[in-house]
Formats: sequence, C-alpha cells, structure tokens
Amino acid sequence: MKNLAVFVSGNGSNLQAIIDAVKNGNLKVNIALALSDNKDAYALARAKEAGIKGIFIDPKIYKAKKEFEREIISVLEKEKVEAIALAGFMRILSPEFISRYKNRILNVHPALLPSFKGAHGIKDAFDYGVKMTGVTIHFVDENMDHGPIILQEALRVDDGDTLGSLEEKIHKVEHKLYPEAIRLFSEGKLKVEGRRVIIL
Ligand code: GRF
Repeated sequence: MKNLAVFVSGNGSNLQAIIDAVKNGNLKVNIALALSDNKDAYALARAKEAGIKGIFIDPKIYKAKKEFEREIISVLEKEKVEAIALAGFMRILSPEFISRYKNRILNVHPALLPSFKGAHGIKDAFDYGVKMTGVTIHFVDENMDHGPIILQEALRVDDGDTLGSLEEKIHKVEHKLYPEAIRLFSEGKLKVEGRRVIIL
C-alpha cells in the first residue's frame, strides 16, 4: 500500500504523528490527502503546512449519508487511495462504505478495547477509576470500535493523574503506536484471521 488518506475532524495530532513518521523515513507511504468533515479542523492547517492536500467535505450539504460518502469515494478514487486511517474522525461510516474498503480502514481508539468504546474513551476510563488503560489500533468493521485489533499498548493511571495528564499520556502512546501500525499494514505484514490480526 502506498496511497493513504487520513480522515480527521479536529486537532489532528495523530495526523501530525503520521506526517512526522513519513518525514523522518519511518513510514514509507504517500499521504494522498487529509479529508475533514469540519472546515475549522486544525488538522487541515497541519496538512497545509506539510504540503498535503486537505479536503473539506461538508456533510450538511448532502441529503443523505450515502451522498456524502459518494462524494468521499469519488475523491478517494481520483487520488488512487488504497487505505484510510481514521484519526479523530467523528463520524460513523456506513456498512457499505466500510465493506468497500474492507480491512483497509484503520482507527485509533484511546482506550483498551473492548473497554470504553465511544467518543470519550479517556474520560470514561478515568471516571471509572481504572488502574490501567491504553491505546488500541484496529481495523474498522461495521460496528463501532469493534474491528480486529492490530496493536494495543497499556499504560498505568497513577494516583496523581488528572484527566489532563492522562490525556497527555494517552496521546503520546497514540502518536507512537499509530504510525507503527500503519507501517506494518503498508508493508503487508498484517494478516487478518477472523478477529485475530497476525503480525507476519
Ligand atoms: C484521539 O485521542 C483518538 O484516539 C480519538 O480521537 C482523538 C483524535 O485526536 N479517536 P487528534 O485529532 O488526532 O489530535
């Protein structure tokens, strides 16, 4: 796999980590584009700064999700995108979209799945009082935060941690783990066997 699209909605620190990994030679992919559903996403500024095509597709102008996704697909095909990394993309993709890119969409989740699914994984884990949490990189399937797990890394929640300090620790791990998972995928080193991902 060479051509990667990164889907974003917000800050884009994971996009930045992927950009940096490409720049320093650790990841040999072409970031064909960063696609955002939010025109104010800081991620788009990061893309611009790095000389990467940033594309905003406004979901509000489409009557149905299908039409919004049709527009996304036409952009992906034009840019010959082979794989997609969701990086803080706050939108659920349809089963049709996902099956079109089966086992070619990756996601980063800021908790140890299957615990703390959803949009607030860090806060939910913190509020629950867990002693360990972490980061999961997984393939995307039709169910939210559910597909086969590629990499996970655990980290300790210390007594002195605040939500803010835990967020920092989680993001630090994300920024290391996500480029690594994309590297393994891009080098053809991931084999999906049911729910299990074998690293070759
Ligand atoms: C990350 O914590 C990621 O795990 C979650 O959304 C956040 C995105 O952050 N899915 P950023 O936009 O990459 O900074």
